[in-house]
Amino acid sequence: MKVSAEILNLIPYKPGKPISETQREYGLSEVIKLASNENALGPSPKAIEAVESHLKIQHRYPDPSCYDLVQKISKVWGVPATQVAIGNGSNEIIDLLIRIFCEPGDAILTSKAAFVAYQVCAQAARVKVKTVPMKPDLTLDLKAIADYFFHNPTAGIRIIFIPNPNNPTGTLVAGRELDEFLVRLGNRDDVLLVFDEAYTEFVRNPEFREAAKFYRHYSNVIVIKTFSKVYGMAGFRLGAMLAPEYVLEYYNRVRNPFNVNELAQVAGMAALEDKEYIKSSQKLVWEGLDYFYKELTRLNLKYYPSEANFVLFETKRDSEEVHKNLLKKGLILRPVQNYGFRTLMRMTVGLPYENKKAIEAIEKMLTEVSEIG
Ligand SMILES: Cc1ncc(COP(=O)(O)O)c(C=O)c1O
Repeated sequence: MKVSAEILNLIPYKPGKPISETQREYGLSEVIKLASNENALGPSPKAIEAVESHLKIQHRYPDPSCYDLVQKISKVWGVPATQVAIGNGSNEIIDLLIRIFCEPGDAILTSKAAFVAYQVCAQAARVKVKTVPMKPDLTLDLKAIADYFFHNPTAGIRIIFIPNPNNPTGTLVAGRELDEFLVRLGNRDDVLLVFDEAYTEFVRNPEFREAAKFYRHYSNVIVIKTFSKVYGMAGFRLGAMLAPEYVLEYYNRVRNPFNVNELAQVAGMAALEDKEYIKSSQKLVWEGLDYFYKELTRLNLKYYPSEANFVLFETKRDSEEVHKNLLKKGLILRPVQNYGFRTLMRMTVGLPYENKKAIEAIEKMLTEVSEIG
């Protein structure tokens, strides 16, 4: 069978190594996974309760419109219900937006080292991926992105993806740069500006402005949110989109009718209300990040201050070697060579004892893996 060049060359998304696989391969009983930016607290107790009480009706199809969840999001986030759509994780939303608004041969535009799902979904849809370099401090260069768009009018760019904060760098864009970007590109009818706000609840930078608060002033701004991070629901697969009504109209035509199962819907509603859990998640992450900063400084390893629930740090070593060494010690982190960073590792904040063990393993690794010349 003939397969397109884009599919032949597609490098699939590589998820963090599962705990069970690491236990099997290395004969370990205890493994700590800080590789997938998950919430170490486990799901909100309120979400678990809601799921348990709905188990007995799972012979029924779920509500295809996610009506109750949409109403709850509208109330809790203060957005019109007519501008809320739900996805099977935000990944599905990314995938569908590309399929809806780009034809094969069109392009998406983002930054180098932006969250990799944009590239994977685009390639799968035979859509080209254009990228511009990041700034040296690993923040997105919004001016360069806008310049690229205007200098390449024939590139067929239909969507610009702005992960804010970005994964794997943990950095954000804000302030005047963001305002100028919106002045130059907001309200155009030939390009969509998609702000991926998976990590905004962890942001501490006071300059930050959520697109979820300003998207309504623009006809071409879309916001993607996930329940996988601060809401602790990665396994349920639940994401949301805030967008003008015309975007939702197309989205609801294209998505599978039962794309979000009912347990995810009821868990999401409960998690949205669980303010205490959200506060605990934020506290865990902020204290964990501060601990990592202190310890990485002690170990003389440079890090990139993070506005998310993970930190990217310099190992001065080949990160695949570092990864293998840490796996033997029962620690799964994420090497990010696929983002073009040969010596950097990404580490998610875990529970305090996990963070401590991670630092101990890293300290030991430093004496075992040699620096690269
Ligand atoms: C920036 C960003 N966007 C989206 C996602 C996908 O999240 P979901 O679990 O909702 O598909 C991730 C997951 O790590 C992410 O880092």
